[in-house]
Amino acid sequence: MHIRATRSEDFPTLFDLRARTRENAMSVAELAARGITPDSAAEALHTGLVRGWLCEVDGQIVGFASGDRDGGEMLVLAVLPEYEGRGIGRALLAKVTAWPAECGHQRIWLSANPDSAVRAYGFYRHCGWVATGELVDGEEIMVYQPAG
Ligand SMILES: CC(C)(COP(=O)(O)OP(=O)(O)OC[C@H]1O[C@@H](n2cnc3c(N)ncnc32)[C@H](O)[C@@H]1OP(=O)(O)O)[C@@H](O)C(=O)NCCC(=O)NCCS
Repeated sequence: MHIRATRSEDFPTLFDLRARTRENAMSVAELAARGITPDSAAEALHTGLVRGWLCEVDGQIVGFASGDRDGGEMLVLAVLPEYEGRGIGRALLAKVTAWPAECGHQRIWLSANPDSAVRAYGFYRHCGWVATGELVDGEEIMVYQPAG
């Protein structure tokens, strides 16, 4: 398992992966409807507004995450179904949470599916995230509040 920084040429593979998660999948078309494309993602990376990390196993990209510099938002986290449960999500989340903190953000946040039946619901809570009670477009806003 190898974690490295995302490069612009990774985005076509990352968009394909995002459509293949077991839950909360987003197709290339759904993302494009929100104005998010491999080109726009590469541009955001290039300008330094966004940074990302990915995980490779045997040379295959199996998960990735990215965060937003100015807003302190954890933008996306996705792990392929057959690689869930191996600590990859936690490792990527640690990377993408540390960066806005290094940029000086006091409030690091994300929006997530509020359905308690999905894996991400318990995962985020287990990893130190707390729901604020705020809902935006049907997603709950959570903030990072590590214990201690
Ligand atoms: C949510 C997701 C990122 C989790 O990734 P993962 O690699 O399976 O998670 P990990 O194996 O790193 O789990 C980390 C820890 O969380 C715990 N955990 C995971 N799911 C949990 C749950 N539902 N309830 C409680 N704890 C949970 C694990 O047991 C593990 O604990 P440990 O570190 O103390 O041993 C992954 O399931 C995924 O990509 N889901 C689909 C896409 C998605 O929903 N993304 C997030 C919203 S956009």
